Amino acid sequence: TFVVTGACIRCKYTDCVDVCPVDAFREGPNFLVIDPDDCIDCALCVPECPVSAIFAEEDVPGDQQDFTPLNAELAQVWKPITRTKAGLPDADEWAQVVGKRAELQR
Ligand code: SF4
Ligand code: F3S
Repeated sequence: TFVVTGACIRCKYTDCVDVCPVDAFREGPNFLVIDPDDCIDCALCVPECPVSAIFAEEDVPGDQQDFTPLNAELAQVWKPITRTKAGLPDADEWAQVVGKRAELQR
């Protein structure tokens, strides 16, 4: 499966959503996740993300490993998002911030 990691938090550009052939993305207040039960590992979403937040599970950086179970957990409760929309209002200010994990809203 593919995994959305911390760079997405407080940006949520949603460019990734439009290209997913199986509608695997789920939306929270300031973050998206991929449902591992739906993702077919096509990798189409990876180059779409302006902040490079999406990784194959085996390539998730060491300091982002908790995002793999977090995607699976939140995919159970968040609703599908299938169309790209505007990113969060201050997305560009947060795009280069590292260590946004504590900013995640459920
Ligand atoms: Fe969807 Fe493909 Fe990305 Fe998986 S890898 S979330 S199937 S676009
Ligand atoms: Fe997030 Fe990147 Fe998609 S910022 S919403 S993973 S395009």
